[in-house]
Amino acid sequence: DPALRVALLGAGVVGSQVARLLTSQRDDLAARAGAALELVGVAVRDVSVPRDGVDPALLTTDAEGLVERADLVVEVMGGIEPARSLLLRAIAAGASVVTANKALLAEDGPTLYAAADDAGVDLYFEAAVAGAIPLVRPVRESLAGDRIRRVLGVVNGTTNYVLDQMATEGLDLDQAVKQAQALGYAEADPTADVEGFDAAAKAAILASLAFHTRVPLEQVHREGITAVTADDVAWAARTGHVVKLLAIAESTDAGVSVRVHPALVPTSHPLAGVHGAFNAVFVEAEAAGELMFYGRGAGGAPTASAVLGDLVSAARHRVLGGRGPVESSYADLPLLPASAA
Ligand code: HSE
Repeated sequence: DPALRVALLGAGVVGSQVARLLTSQRDDLAARAGAALELVGVAVRDVSVPRDGVDPALLTTDAEGLVERADLVVEVMGGIEPARSLLLRAIAAGASVVTANKALLAEDGPTLYAAADDAGVDLYFEAAVAGAIPLVRPVRESLAGDRIRRVLGVVNGTTNYVLDQMATEGLDLDQAVKQAQALGYAEADPTADVEGFDAAAKAAILASLAFHTRVPLEQVHREGITAVTADDVAWAARTGHVVKLLAIAESTDAGVSVRVHPALVPTSHPLAGVHGAFNAVFVEAEAAGELMFYGRGAGGAPTASAVLGDLVSAARHRVLGGRGPVESSYADLPLLPASAA
């Protein structure tokens, strides 16, 4: 089979790791995909910035031109624009797409799903929720014959690390956030994590997949960890609890409820044992019962693992025919306010 042309949009921590693995795992990936995966270009804002392990000759600022000469487009640039326009352009040009972009999917997933469905190409996004943890695929595919009732998870590693440090070191929130920044967990601007925006985006994506409905991001009830004090955390410990920032999505006869807020978790609960920058997600389904998914929710290599898994699946479909799951047929279920759940 001829090689498949891969375009990479973004060469940050995740993108440069994807590029390195495409080279170092070349033979294994070709064997699994059924064709060689040839990286034909890496779109970046500034080609003069060196990217560790990425051939400088592949760097380009012409992302639009790049997506039109690719069979497979991997988007790890983040943000809404230009990511959305580039993915729509790639899909319209007949490419299959893989994205790690939780903000975009939470904001405008249905537009992308419909475009991919119309064009008959794959849209995979395992890395958009909980990094390396296989979660999107189990929810979209493995549980497609079941009815998911509830999804409950620790889906933000930064806040989980911060709450952990408050509990074990007695730090206050600001001190713990500074420590998370020093270790590279939290961004220079930690707002998206500590205010719960990151977790809310992941909750919206998971809920829409789990319950086959649209979940507009603005309807996710969101409360971050900024009001949690060292005293709260110490009091929780004295009563046999830990404070966790939970993402909770529930489906009842009345409708769907999706929310993110700090919660008291009994120390005996498996989610209480999720420490540091790890993530874990509980899924309760009617026939399957309780399932738990655990692993690294962030970082270059873990996130690249999920991206490459998607890339192999999409590549295999290009070689053998067939398609991945389709998300454009929704029932519009009522969304309940958080207080009703
Ligand atoms: N900032 C996120 C976290 C990782 O701390 O979990 C990317 O989603």
